[in-house]
Amino acid sequence: MVDVGTTTEDLERFLAEHHLVGAGLRREGTAQPRKGNLAAHWTWEGIHNGLMQSGKIVTIGSDGMTGMRSVTGIEARGWPIWMNVQILMPGERTQAHRNMRSETRLVCQAPEEAVFVCDYEAYPMKRGDVIISPSWTYHDHWNEGTEPAIFVDAYDNGYMGATINERLPNEAPYQDVNRPEGYAVKALGLREAGAEPVFPLPVVRYPWTETQEALEALRAAEVDGDPYDGLRLMFRSPVDGGATLPTMAWHVQLLNPRQKTLDHRHNSNVFYHVFEGEGATVIEGERLEWHKGDLFAVPPWKWHHHENATNDDVVLFSVDDWPAKTKLGFYLKESIDG
Ligand SMILES: [Fe+2]
Ligand SMILES: [Fe+2]
Repeated sequence: MVDVGTTTEDLERFLAEHHLVGAGLRREGTAQPRKGNLAAHWTWEGIHNGLMQSGKIVTIGSDGMTGMRSVTGIEARGWPIWMNVQILMPGERTQAHRNMRSETRLVCQAPEEAVFVCDYEAYPMKRGDVIISPSWTYHDHWNEGTEPAIFVDAYDNGYMGATINERLPNEAPYQDVNRPEGYAVKALGLREAGAEPVFPLPVVRYPWTETQEALEALRAAEVDGDPYDGLRLMFRSPVDGGATLPTMAWHVQLLNPRQKTLDHRHNSNVFYHVFEGEGATVIEGERLEWHKGDLFAVPPWKWHHHENATNDDVVLFSVDDWPAKTKLGFYLKESIDG
């Protein structure tokens, strides 16, 4: 049993020991950012226990504006994109707003009754679902169940000073859920072809059931998949079939039992969440061992490969900023065979 203590100071110390900082909490003075290839790694033990205790003692809304209660890796904040993890306790609802950065989520656990409310539409939270709230779309989260909802957030906060935040008209705290299921994507099909670039981009939900079926179909067809990433899929934008967002792309990859990929490197930033299984990512000869629930990141332009050392499948979700770098004209990728 992990001892998180009882006071706010105890929680701050616990988080700091796990290289995390909580929204609405102070950063512990002793917790200096780590350096080096393995610094961007945060264990589920720290994340989960820190979040559960935050759920008990940190008042929602203590971040000042939105009511989101999260923990973030201390080192993650220096990256142009990052993942953190958020908890929404039973009965809680965050305050609706929209912002210039895009916000994306991956559900770790949630009761049946919990939903993401995005642009006036309610989206279920099922484990493994990916939800995209593009730049300038309204979002709040609502847990009417009896268990906590926990999800990974991935943000493109570091691009182009994307810092504008805006509340609903008249400072209303919550969105009315007045759009039918599927509205965002269906309405996209009604837009005039070749019209102005779509903005805001539509909210999209990628259900885990479909992702899992796609991975199994890929395994049936390709067995081991890509030599550098295993069986890997991208969550495609419904607007143009390309990257999930202009700034970053979500991927899911399955490593077969005992699969070890080959080394490659790219100058994009990549954050991972270990959805199932355990294994290691070897970065320039240094071994980063990860377990279910962990977050970790691979720094740009470092040779790396992934290993599944077990007899079970590994499933990793990741966000990668290759779309931004490709558009700006400086995305680089290299592998051992060129
Ligand atoms: Fe937001
Ligand atoms: Fe890679």
